[in-house]
Amino acid sequence: MNIHRAAHAGFCFGVKRALDIAEQTIRDVGGQKPIYTLGPIIHNPLVVERLAQQGLKVAGDLGEVEDGVLVVRSHGLPLAALSQAKEKSLRVVDATCPFVARSQRLARRLGEEGYQVLIIGEENHPEVLAIQGTVQMESLVIGSAGEVSGLKLGKKVGIISQTTQPLQNFLECVSAVLARVEEAKVFRTICPASTERQKEAWLLAQQVPVMVVIGGRSSANTAHLAESCRLAGARTYLIESAAELQHEWFRGVKDVGVTAGASTPNWLIEEVIGTMEEFKSDQAKEQTGQETPEGMNQNYDQPMPELAQGQTVTARVVQVQPDEVMVDIGYKSEGIIPKREISAIPVESAQDAVKVGDTFPAKVLKINTEEGTVLLSKRRAEEESAWERLKEAKDKNLTLEARVREQVKGGLLVDVGVRGFVPASHVSRGFVKDLSPIVGQTLGFKVLEMDEGRKNVVLSHKLVEEEEMNKAREQVMAKIKKGMIVDGVVKRLTSFGAFVDIGDGVEGLLHVSEMAWHRVGHPSEVLSENDTIKVMVLDIDPASGHISLSLKQTLPDPWTKVTRDFKVDQIVQGEVTRVVDFGAFIKLAEGVEGLAHISQLADHRVEKASDAVQPGQVVPVKILSIDPQAKRISLSIREALPKKPEPPRERPVRQETVLVQDQEDRVTLGDMFGKLFEEHRGEKSE
Ligand code: F3S
Repeated sequence: MNIHRAAHAGFCFGVKRALDIAEQTIRDVGGQKPIYTLGPIIHNPLVVERLAQQGLKVAGDLGEVEDGVLVVRSHGLPLAALSQAKEKSLRVVDATCPFVARSQRLARRLGEEGYQVLIIGEENHPEVLAIQGTVQMESLVIGSAGEVSGLKLGKKVGIISQTTQPLQNFLECVSAVLARVEEAKVFRTICPASTERQKEAWLLAQQVPVMVVIGGRSSANTAHLAESCRLAGARTYLIESAAELQHEWFRGVKDVGVTAGASTPNWLIEEVIGTMEEFKSDQAKEQTGQETPEGMNQNYDQPMPELAQGQTVTARVVQVQPDEVMVDIGYKSEGIIPKREISAIPVESAQDAVKVGDTFPAKVLKINTEEGTVLLSKRRAEEESAWERLKEAKDKNLTLEARVREQVKGGLLVDVGVRGFVPASHVSRGFVKDLSPIVGQTLGFKVLEMDEGRKNVVLSHKLVEEEEMNKAREQVMAKIKKGMIVDGVVKRLTSFGAFVDIGDGVEGLLHVSEMAWHRVGHPSEVLSENDTIKVMVLDIDPASGHISLSLKQTLPDPWTKVTRDFKVDQIVQGEVTRVVDFGAFIKLAEGVEGLAHISQLADHRVEKASDAVQPGQVVPVKILSIDPQAKRISLSIREALPKKPEPPRERPVRQETVLVQDQEDRVTLGDMFGKLFEEHRGEKSE
């Protein structure tokens, strides 16, 4: 078991001073007079008991004290109590912590200036009572921001805090009050020692599984420490003495943190650590080998590093307010980054730009030792390294992560250490109609152009998407093979098909002809965007990255049962799907179409196919032939029509010339020319 002691644990300056004064008083008085404190000098019963043995008595109120010496403890006393002590002729030795005394002075001054004094702290805590007791008018006390709404606030309010208040609570309360008053004066009177201890305890508690907080249970300071440790995620035990330690708390635990409240003496811390050391040997065999968290080897007893103006340090956000960010820089004081120093692009609220736990480089602008604060700039530290990073990213085509800060005309503004512009056309691979939802997102960017002189940087997220897409495509293509059936999501429909995402944004084309076995006019007849479907990989072109898909190949082929369902010479009903010059396509079943040639469309001669049939028309057809291999069916409407009865046939009349052979009816040459013959004969005889 490794024991890690917080660097600032135990007595704070104020407590140590009060104890020194008390002990000196005991020595000075030498037992000749009684010495009192009103209430225990510190919230630690062991110390109080030891001082009691030396002669320091604890009185509940001044009524119990008649003479002697009154030591004012570090919490201070109200003016009324001091006056009463004076009236009783008590010798008053003031051991009020200077930080508390300052709070009292401020409270009194606020009251004198007419401000209503509001103290953020624990009602009835001696320190708060002492502060209230220095104000001549009635003052208010609140423990949390939630109590502000119930307050009756004046126009002018002066706010101070109890020295041990957690900063977060103080800031929340102040914000709530400021929202309700016209004028306010705010003094952050939180003691640096208290803040320092809480911060260290919180950091240590983040790195160990178990924390031991030593201090009085009635001490506000110790209670806040324990609360910080619990909030940081450590199992936390608050003890007042080493006797309370239990073996079980550390069983199997490799690293334990120890811190102590401001009222805890060093000897008590040593005693607790000594007891824990004894546990180590007992538990060595039981350790489970729990990992030491990163950074656990940090030596918390080491002195804090020195800071210099202009130095760049690592800052870790511990608190975010609208106007400033509180960071831990490993220095004794907290660091503050004002809103204007957060980012190259102005932010409305610091809360928009960073969150608790963020770690980044910050440049030291100013060290205010009086206030114990360090002013830092995240913006300037980032600017210094931004151009170098941008150049390297451009030269090596690296991707830079950056947060989108604002939507402007024509694109987006991105914080890449300097102001970067992303044209709308480079926001994404697809068209983005509304850029506003992208504001606030952290995305990857490629550097398109940069000009350090003109402080101009143009970025592209689209190129990052394309690069990622190509990588994903390569991986998907290495996995898929032709004929493989894969799951896909329909992304876009076009007139010629659908783009289907088959994994990691890799899209393949499902052509309209591959959507179904039947003819599909438009993809929307079959699919809708975001449909989840199974598709077969038809083809992969590694060179172009094109992937062809088929939906119909994953569906049963209706042609496989065509010869079972249909026979040649069968007459069936079909629906005309398309009419073309040479005939008409007629659907017989889903996915099964046949062709009726134009000559088969009617029982008469048809000039144009559309004169005979129209798409959508249901007609009887006779199946002339089936070729399942070629997926062809020949059809005839003409053959399916009922036969018209044929008209009776008339025998044709034969026009024949009858040659009369009868000799008696014969016309002879003599009949025709005989007289002529006779005349010629008579002439010759004369
Ligand atoms: Fe004083 Fe701060 Fe300690 S106010 S008593 S130094 S915690």
